[in-house]
Amino acid sequence: MLTVTTVKELKSAVKQAREAGKSIGLVPTMGALHEGHKSLVDRCRKENNVVVVSVFVNPTQFNNKEDLRTYPRTEEADKALLEAAGCDVVFMPTVEEVYPEPDTRVFNLGPVAEVMEGPMRPGHFNGVAQVVSKLFMMVEPDRAYFGEKDFQQIAVIREMVRQLGFKLEIVPCPIVREADGLAKSSRNVRLTPENRAVAPCIYRLLSESLDFAQSHSVEETIAFVTGGINAHDAMEVEYYQIVDGITMQPITEWADTGYAVGCITVYCGDVRLIDNITYFRK
Ligand code: PAJ
Repeated sequence: MLTVTTVKELKSAVKQAREAGKSIGLVPTMGALHEGHKSLVDRCRKENNVVVVSVFVNPTQFNNKEDLRTYPRTEEADKALLEAAGCDVVFMPTVEEVYPEPDTRVFNLGPVAEVMEGPMRPGHFNGVAQVVSKLFMMVEPDRAYFGEKDFQQIAVIREMVRQLGFKLEIVPCPIVREADGLAKSSRNVRLTPENRAVAPCIYRLLSESLDFAQSHSVEETIAFVTGGINAHDAMEVEYYQIVDGITMQPITEWADTGYAVGCITVYCGDVRLIDNITYFRK
């Protein structure tokens, strides 16, 4: 595995692979890697000759300074995981390398970015679009891999790709969970032991709501999930919305869509957790 820190080295590694006629897959990450990230690398390995993984805690997508400051950084462990997973090139740049000058680009990402995480985390998706578009320009991958854990992020990246005309395939990958159902996340390590013990109720309520939804309205299903989670001390639902899985727009009737996904964010103590579940995809 080749570890590079500069754009120049990254481009040169990619160029060599291209000239040898190899296909290139990219997995963008912010490090503190776990099985969820690894599943993206595994899939990328299967579908491409060369696997490039970026590990970069992107400051422009953090709307909360404290979250950026305390974001876990585990470079050596990340390298070991990537090496074992069969990554070919890992890109671990400094902030100055990615942003030699401030990125002043303002994306108009339209309706997909105006709901849920959009208003809750102002500037977040703009920062994601900035860094991911830069990575796409540097690597020019054939395919790029993203986890459905950040469900709305995939829709936003698809929109950015459409607007900028990148010729690549976005490959969504399923959520990887802990044995007790909690979606794996780099932020889980910040949970206190007490909060870690109750956090699995998020996925439990989401799962139970699949059955509940068979005989209840969208509104009742939202209340079922929200009420069930809020019943736990230390847990507070920030939003639960059931949306069309492509447009991200909230639905009010099940018949409004052929692809219904419930997207949730929950404060568990002061840790913000995110998850989602698909009700149906026709
Ligand atoms: P990060 O949170 O590190 O996640 C990197 C990728 O791993 C994302 O596509 C995310 O959806 C996926 N992922 C995280 N946890 C997962 C899980 N439990 N199961 C499946 N996939 C999971 O998302 C980002 O970084 C950043 O916004 C980034 C796209 C790298 C831009 O900075």
